[in-house]
Amino acid sequence: MKICAFGVRGDEVPYFQSWAAHTDNTVTLHTDYLTEQTLPLAAGYDGMTCFQTVPYASTIFTGMQRLHVPFLALRNAGFENVDLPAAQAHAIRVSYVPAYSPRAIAEFAVMSMLYLLRQAGAVQTALHDADYPLAKTFIGRELGDLTVGVVGSGRIGQAVIRILNGFGARVLITDSHLPEARDLSFTPVSFTELLRQSDILTLHIPGDPANDNLLNEAAFAKMKAGTLIVNTARPNLIDTAAMLMHLRSGKLGGVAIDTFEHEADDLLQLAKGETFTDPLWDELLAMPNVMLSPHIAYYTDTAVRNMVVQSLDSLIAFHQGASVATELT
Ligand code: COI
Repeated sequence: MKICAFGVRGDEVPYFQSWAAHTDNTVTLHTDYLTEQTLPLAAGYDGMTCFQTVPYASTIFTGMQRLHVPFLALRNAGFENVDLPAAQAHAIRVSYVPAYSPRAIAEFAVMSMLYLLRQAGAVQTALHDADYPLAKTFIGRELGDLTVGVVGSGRIGQAVIRILNGFGARVLITDSHLPEARDLSFTPVSFTELLRQSDILTLHIPGDPANDNLLNEAAFAKMKAGTLIVNTARPNLIDTAAMLMHLRSGKLGGVAIDTFEHEADDLLQLAKGETFTDPLWDELLAMPNVMLSPHIAYYTDTAVRNMVVQSLDSLIAFHQGASVATELT
């Protein structure tokens, strides 16, 4: 099979090369994202694989049909940027990689909790200001003493619960979707109760429109004073302006945001030295009890390997006319 890969980063290259060598297929690598302008690079190929948060517009699928390239394998889990009805209308089969490494994101979420609990940002700020006496004054709290509300108990949420169980934390989940795994310890409660009782909230739900601003003014009002929030899931889940107000007032004890509400505007595509002009981001970045990161919770060697290998395997299955469990169309 001849495969055209877009949005390829250097860390993915060895995995592409070893897959191609082992399976005797050809993969041509491009660093550019798939756009109307770059699509002609795929002419003459049997399928393509992409990694990008920029949109896959309907014109991409019109173009793929015209070029007779019928398969697209996303190398990531989110697909809110893909015009799936257009893909279907043009008979393009699309797959994704929903579970490249739930643990990668779970570990990042728990790392974020520990960062906030030990006030690591405040310690760093004091050290940068050469205020050594101050740096020793930020007393921590222990995860094992606390209640963590895990919103969403799919693969990633369950991986989070497993780690939290190891720390001895009390885990609440919402009762709408109970995990099947038997080794996990948690208490199902209503969403309102979860907001009321949790010391830490961690989000692991999809970015469906139904979940838009799940953490909004009404939700913040129900939380305990000093609640910590971790979002490694999707940018649309938190009303950032409302969150910022509660950080300013001290109602929220701290937040860790890996998926910033306005990230798609340009944050994920900035070149070195370029600035991200967003006043909300700037204010959050200046707060010692806020940990920001540019959508990297997923980013581990295990995850990257699985993203590459599983997407390429899907293309082979498409090419062979097989059914693909991770097909979106
Ligand atoms: C996803 O897999 O959808 C992610 O959130 C990773 C992202 C950088 C594309």
